[in-house]
Amino acid sequence: MPTHDLVIRDADVVDGSGAPRFRADVAVRGDRIDAVLRHDDATRAVVRGRLEIDAGGRVLAPGFIDVHTHDDTALIAQPEMAMKASQGVTTVVCGNCGASAAPVLRPEVSSALLSLIVRDPAHAAPDFASFAARVEAARPALNGAFLIGHSTLRASVMGEDLARAATDAEIERMRLLLDACLEQGAIGLSSGLFYPPAAAATTDEVARVAEPLGRHGGVYTAHMRDEGDHVLASMDETFEIGRRAGAPVVVSHHKCAGRANFGRMRETLPRMDAARAAQPVAFDVYPYTASSTILHPDMIERAERVLVTWSDTVAGVAGRDLADIAADWGVDAREAARRLQPAGAIYFTMAEADVRAALAHPGAMIGSDGLPFDAHPHPRLWGTFPRVLGHYCRELRLFPLEDAVHRMTGLSATTFGLAGRGFVREGLYADLCVFDAATVIDRADFASPCLPSIGIDTVIVNGVPVWRDGAPTGERPGRVLRRQALRAIAGPGDGPDRGPAAAGPGR
Ligand code: ZN
Ligand code: CU
Repeated sequence: MPTHDLVIRDADVVDGSGAPRFRADVAVRGDRIDAVLRHDDATRAVVRGRLEIDAGGRVLAPGFIDVHTHDDTALIAQPEMAMKASQGVTTVVCGNCGASAAPVLRPEVSSALLSLIVRDPAHAAPDFASFAARVEAARPALNGAFLIGHSTLRASVMGEDLARAATDAEIERMRLLLDACLEQGAIGLSSGLFYPPAAAATTDEVARVAEPLGRHGGVYTAHMRDEGDHVLASMDETFEIGRRAGAPVVVSHHKCAGRANFGRMRETLPRMDAARAAQPVAFDVYPYTASSTILHPDMIERAERVLVTWSDTVAGVAGRDLADIAADWGVDAREAARRLQPAGAIYFTMAEADVRAALAHPGAMIGSDGLPFDAHPHPRLWGTFPRVLGHYCRELRLFPLEDAVHRMTGLSATTFGLAGRGFVREGLYADLCVFDAATVIDRADFASPCLPSIGIDTVIVNGVPVWRDGAPTGERPGRVLRRQALRAIAGPGDGPDRGPAAAGPGR
């Protein structure tokens, strides 16, 4: 007689905490992990499941948390979320870089930044509660947690008039909008001071808008004003905003961009350490030396190479080199970029040694920064997590597997306050991933960016398999992870085990 809904047998459990792996059977009842039965415990019970999966010594880890995504409306438009489920991802943190799909009060205000995340205006919403209801109505396969974008707040309050600092009255309106969204379950604020809709904002503006974070236990994430020559000053600005808001800081996709800045992780990581001694600071990073965002004229010069990922005005250019397009047209790259607007691009702007240094830092979480609506996306959209596991962990031995998994699960859940997730522990949610550590690897590359990885066998969300043996199961058990519900989980079930996942925001 089965006592459980699902049993995964003979798994090497890498539990998300960074602790050494152990062999166990893991039993799931409903949406929770009911028992972790270690094989070194001779008294362990025998359990049977309605569904049994023989891991055969493969790894069972917590489902990966993609802490840096732009999947806000992809959860609605592509509810199977194959690009992420195929990597072992079970939760996506949306609303990064200053852009979120709520609260959108003036949908007519268009910007290239917002068009990265909202392709169908019907998927945006004027308040967070109705946006979350839209996500739930779409029944996505994966869980979503949502940040509110400062650029979205600006467009809602200031309309098209964005090339200036906000007035006191506008700051107050943005602050109240953020407060309402946090009240409705958003988990924090993101800013993108690099981008035109927010570049004119002062430090003081963002710090004052961010003020409700401290009270609500929200997180502040930052696509910084400058990731190149002035990266240190931008880090200081980011830390200041977090301090003034009383909020944990996450520096987004940390990098040192441009040849002149190659090697400067030697400066930025110690700066990160100094800040971490005084306030909660972490960062996310993706495992590639190329970035991707809107096609921005100022970013062309410092890139070794620029690939166009989409253009709304010129057909047939996705995947092509900007230099080739410019040559065809007999113009320079800047002029070609102007003619392609609005458009997106991939920029080769980082040193491999810097990427490795960032990945290996104790404050580093893995975030894909994938752009789900790009015609020819950066391969990070499909490849990030298997690439860290297969290339950086197994092939390059940058860190042990337990450490790699920790940066995708436990560290991420703790940093973002995703209580009840991120660890394989009795009583926590059954978000799980079974993979083959000997073969897992990304296949997506810059030429063929939408190839699913290999080695990810089974992905389980809230106790239900969403991905098995290279294909979606068709099940869509994902949830909106609202801040209050996360907080309400004081510990795993009623048990005494108050693991790190129960700690809420903080390090
Ligand atoms: Zn960004
Ligand atoms: Cu981003």
